[in-house]
Amino acid sequence: MPYASITGWGEGMPPAVLSNEDLSTFLDTSDEWIITRTGMKERRVSHVSAIEMATVAASRALACAGLDPADLDLIIYGGCSNEEAVPNSASGVQVALGATRAASIDLNTACTSFLYGLTTATAMIRTGVVRNAVVIGVELISRYMDWSNRNVAVLFGDGAAAVVLQATDREEGVIGSVLGCDAESRASLRVRGVGCGYAGKGITFGDTLWDFDGQVIFKHAVKGMSDASGKVLANCGVTADQVDLVVPHQANLRIIEAVAKYAGVPMEKVIVTVHKYGNMSAATVPVSLVEALSLGRIRPGSLILMPAFGGGLTFAALLVRWGERVTPLGTSPRSLSPNTKTALELVSEIRATQDPHGRSRAGLMGVRFVEEGRGAGG
Ligand code: ACO
Repeated sequence: MPYASITGWGEGMPPAVLSNEDLSTFLDTSDEWIITRTGMKERRVSHVSAIEMATVAASRALACAGLDPADLDLIIYGGCSNEEAVPNSASGVQVALGATRAASIDLNTACTSFLYGLTTATAMIRTGVVRNAVVIGVELISRYMDWSNRNVAVLFGDGAAAVVLQATDREEGVIGSVLGCDAESRASLRVRGVGCGYAGKGITFGDTLWDFDGQVIFKHAVKGMSDASGKVLANCGVTADQVDLVVPHQANLRIIEAVAKYAGVPMEKVIVTVHKYGNMSAATVPVSLVEALSLGRIRPGSLILMPAFGGGLTFAALLVRWGERVTPLGTSPRSLSPNTKTALELVSEIRATQDPHGRSRAGLMGVRFVEEGRGAGG
């Protein structure tokens, strides 16, 4: 049975930077509060679509692997920022890449989508369904952020990155994977206003209300990521001191530090990008992985632990054995369309579309869900 080596990697990060000071111009918050509670200093706001970010990331990953898009078998678009439900976003990436043979799947488990996608693509390669795949982690959260809510607006950012997987006989790529979901707590993180449950309620798309219980999520995040990390190491017969690098989900510096402590891995071995990019949900792990490679933090044969959690509340921990190559075979000429606006200008445009009189919000509050009424539905 073949393994699925990671042979290509690339990012599609938008350039506009939104600082804590920028957020303080329209929210009752401060640089000091945000840094102390989260470790975040900046995040990116995209001027292009999620599909464009994903396409640039995938194109760079394919060039890095030396793989022609026409030879690609599978695209997994991981994330919860879909432009449309039908057609799916992976098909948009497929047509933009010219990957005419590729099966195209959208996969949404919120922040864990990239790791669920990596596990899915690995399984499909190992069982012979496909020989190669692109797995993308991408989010465009700025377009449906509730910019009036300081509890969440300071935490998130936009971004994308992708990897290429290829069949190999060497024991490389994902060698262990633990996936799960604490669904009893699914109501602790809900974005009201996106989805067919809101149809016919007079709600404007993008004018959202976030149900967000930060402290509940924090506790589940630490437990879910720590337990899954312990399990994947045990399943693979690996001890914490054998791990060369941890590339965790980046939701909060304090969560990352707690998970590293439980896993028994020193912070020197942990990649941290949350100060630069905030929480990009599904994009945090692949963007951090690409950054680790560009910094020379990954060496041939490195053993890499990747824990994450997200809405659902889903959790995941993967163990990856890196291959021989840590440098790209080639580069892609693709880049994002030019941007002329500041991040604050981009956010102001989105805020202008959000209902200042709260009409959408009244509708959003009226929509009930399964766990609120235990089956009562919308
Ligand atoms: N600026 C200033 N004050 C704020 C802000 C802000 N941006 N946000 C909240 N506050 C205030 C609140 O109003 C509250 O004030 P009060 O005590 O007077 O009511 C207080 O700060 C909240 O303090 P704490 O609850 O003690 O804050 P905590 O230390 O728990 O940090 C945080 C909050 C950062 C949200 C933390 O709980 C967290 O990181 N949770 C996990 C969040 C997360 O992981 N989200 C991702 C979800 S999954 C995914 O990745 C998609």
